[in-house]
Amino acid sequence: MKNLLSKSKGILLAALLVGLLSTFAFGADTLTNADCVKCHAAVVADVAAKGGAHKTSVTCQDCHVGHPPAVKNIIPACSKCHSGKPHYKLPDCLRCHNNPHTPKIIKLGNNITEECLSCHTQQIVKLRQVKSKHTSLACSFCHNVHGKIPLCTQCHKPHSADMAAADCKRCHQAHMPTAVTYAADTPNKMCASCHKKAFDLLSKTTSKHKAVTCVACHKDKHKFVPTCQNCHGTPHPAGMLAKFPKCGDCHSIAHDLNRWESGGPKGAPAAAPAKKVTHPSKKK
Ligand code: HEC
Ligand code: HEC
Ligand code: HEC
Ligand code: HEC
Ligand code: HEC
Ligand code: HEC
Ligand code: HEC
Ligand code: HEC
Ligand code: HEC
Ligand code: HEC
Ligand code: HEC
Ligand code: HEC
Repeated sequence: MKNLLSKSKGILLAALLVGLLSTFAFGADTLTNADCVKCHAAVVADVAAKGGAHKTSVTCQDCHVGHPPAVKNIIPACSKCHSGKPHYKLPDCLRCHNNPHTPKIIKLGNNITEECLSCHTQQIVKLRQVKSKHTSLACSFCHNVHGKIPLCTQCHKPHSADMAAADCKRCHQAHMPTAVTYAADTPNKMCASCHKKAFDLLSKTTSKHKAVTCVACHKDKHKFVPTCQNCHGTPHPAGMLAKFPKCGDCHSIAHDLNRWESGGPKGAPAAAPAKKVTHPSKKK
């Protein structure tokens, strides 16, 4: 019974279809935008829901002029309306805008780079300027949905368990990840994941360097090593420093300066009081 009903419905519809279309074909009637829904309900629903500018700025019939069988090819070229920008010269628009009725829903393949450059120019400059393993990845390998920013931790483990995804940006830029730089507020803990020895020494030292942060000395750029004079100038008489040119000869290393109970190290000449240094955190 149910079958029969839907069958007869089908026949009715087919008859209506042939009737209608032949009327249009013979030009006895004019097809309007309001008619399309009768036979193309799904397309009309797509446009209504996500048509974007293809709903608000154009109608079905601006794109589809005429109708088969009277008019054979009624599929428009995108270039009919879009021209004048590099982006509109890309081949095969429907590869990404794969439904013209929902033009803002964009599907990106895994290997797209050149096409992105028709709108974004900054990122490729960085990727190519500082060559890294990211340089050879396609843009859409990381940005697989347009506009989506991936977390570094989607693909990489943090250097230590107490490092969160938001921390990566302190030291890395996505498009030049090997050019490591860091801001003045980077905590020592962040360096500790790779420099445990330095971290442990400095944490335990009894000298005033304990209060100086890693990045106050190793400023701005990874692997920069300061000289003691960067901060202390020439703290002792020239004659003494000429004889003992290395500060470390007496003071040992920056991470764990010598502390002398009284006087100085054995055999070393008495040192003149050194110039006062302002802690970097107190400078403007
Ligand atoms: C009475 C039913 C009916 C109405 C009304 C109708 N169509 Fe169609 N349409 C069809 C059928 C059937 C086909 C398939 C024809 C063919 O392949 O020869 C078709 C095919 C199409 C195609 C595909 C053409 C191609 O080359 O693949 C487009 C586009 C189209 N219609 C747009 C419209 C638009 C726009 C409207 C409203 C202005 C509309 N149709 C109104 C029945 C209809
Ligand atoms: C901005 C231009 C544009 C507008 C507006 C537009 N279409 Fe289309 N339409 C296309 C293009 C391009 C194709 C071919 C898609 C393809 O090749 O995959 C198409 C394909 C179709 C088809 C055949 C394929 C299918 O999806 O069934 C139908 C039917 C259709 N359109 C109907 C409509 C109707 C009805 C409207 C209005 C509600 C409409 N179109 C609005 C550009 C448009
Ligand atoms: C009949 C004219 C016409 C055709 C054909 C046409 N478009 Fe459009 N399209 C427009 C207009 C008008 C706008 C709104 C103004 C603009 O962005 O240029 C628009 C906007 C768009 C947008 C932005 C949508 C939004 O909501 O902001 C995309 C994406 C787009 N078109 C892609 C395409 C693609 C892909 C094709 C081919 C499949 C195509 N268009 C064919 C007229 C057309
Ligand atoms: C590699 C994928 C890809 C291809 C191929 C592609 N587009 Fe786009 N298109 C995009 C992306 C991504 C956007 C940005 C969408 C946004 O702004 O959210 C876009 C935006 C647009 C827009 C709206 C913004 C603007 O700048 O006008 C239009 C119109 C458009 N494309 C038309 C086209 C046309 C026409 C073609 C073919 C000549 C084409 N697209 C080919 C990915 C593509
Ligand atoms: C037609 C021009 C166009 C194309 C092609 C295009 N984009 Fe976009 N993209 C835009 C616009 C417009 C925005 C939103 C405005 C903005 O933030 O710059 C955007 C935003 C983005 C954002 C988010 C930016 C943010 O700050 O949140 C990313 C990531 C992005 N695009 C990556 C890509 C990638 C990867 C491709 C290639 C697969 C691509 N885009 C292709 C125009 C385009
Ligand atoms: C979608 C995956 C993906 C995302 C997201 C991603 N990367 Fe990568 N990254 C890779 C791949 C793949 C490599 C190459 C690995 C290899 O060959 O060993 C790589 C390599 C690297 C390298 C080594 C570069 C070199 O030349 O030695 C660094 C550093 C790096 N990524 C940092 C980051 C940072 C920081 C982020 C976030 C801003 C990030 N990555 C986001 C996939 C990703
Ligand atoms: C290894 C993964 C990866 C690759 C490859 C990649 N990006 Fe990104 N991109 C990211 C991440 C992660 C961010 C977020 C950066 C941030 O928040 O500082 C980003 C941010 C962006 C932004 C937002 C603005 C900005 O510059 O921060 C745009 C636009 C963008 N990428 C486009 C591109 C384009 C175009 C390409 C190819 C030339 C590309 N990306 C290649 C991971 C990647
Ligand atoms: C305190 C700075 C700092 C932070 C924060 C940081 N990194 Fe790194 N990262 C580095 C340094 C420095 C290197 C380079 C080591 C070298 O030269 O071999 C590096 C190297 C890498 C590499 C290359 C492979 C490796 O392990 O040596 C990847 C991948 C990476 N970082 C991902 C991340 C991710 C993901 C995050 C966030 C969870 C992150 N980094 C946070 C400083 C940092
Ligand atoms: C992902 C691991 C990693 C992180 C995080 C990291 N480094 Fe390094 N660092 C290295 C590697 C690898 C080297 C090279 C060691 C070598 O050449 O023997 C290095 C070398 C150094 C050097 C020595 C340069 C030289 O000439 O001997 C300094 C100074 C340094 N890092 C400081 C820091 C500081 C400060 C931080 C935190 C802001 C930090 N690093 C974070 C891995 C890292
Ligand atoms: C980034 C700047 C900076 C660098 C580089 C630096 N220091 Fe210091 N140093 C300081 C600050 C700040 C203090 C603490 C001053 C205070 O609190 O009076 C300090 C204190 C000292 C003191 C006194 C320690 C104490 O506990 O009383 C000695 C000795 C010293 N530094 C030697 C050195 C030597 C040797 C080097 C090189 C190996 C060096 N410093 C590199 C900033 C620096
Ligand atoms: C007061 C300045 C200062 C502070 C604070 C400081 N360093 Fe250094 N660091 C130096 C100097 C100067 C050297 C060169 C060796 C020397 O003379 O002591 C050095 C050397 C290094 C080296 C090269 C290899 C080694 O271990 O000698 C690494 C790695 C390093 N520091 C990492 C760090 C890390 C990580 C921190 C924080 C936990 C840190 N430093 C804190 C000044 C400092
Ligand atoms: C020959 C041994 C010797 C050499 C070489 C030497 N110092 Fe000293 N320095 C001393 C002695 C001893 C003191 C006084 C220690 C004390 O009071 O605890 C001192 C004190 C200091 C102080 C002040 C500590 C405070 O409490 O105010 C600083 C800063 C300092 N030296 C930096 C340097 C720097 C930088 C160099 C290299 C340019 C250097 N010294 C070279 C032996 C030396």
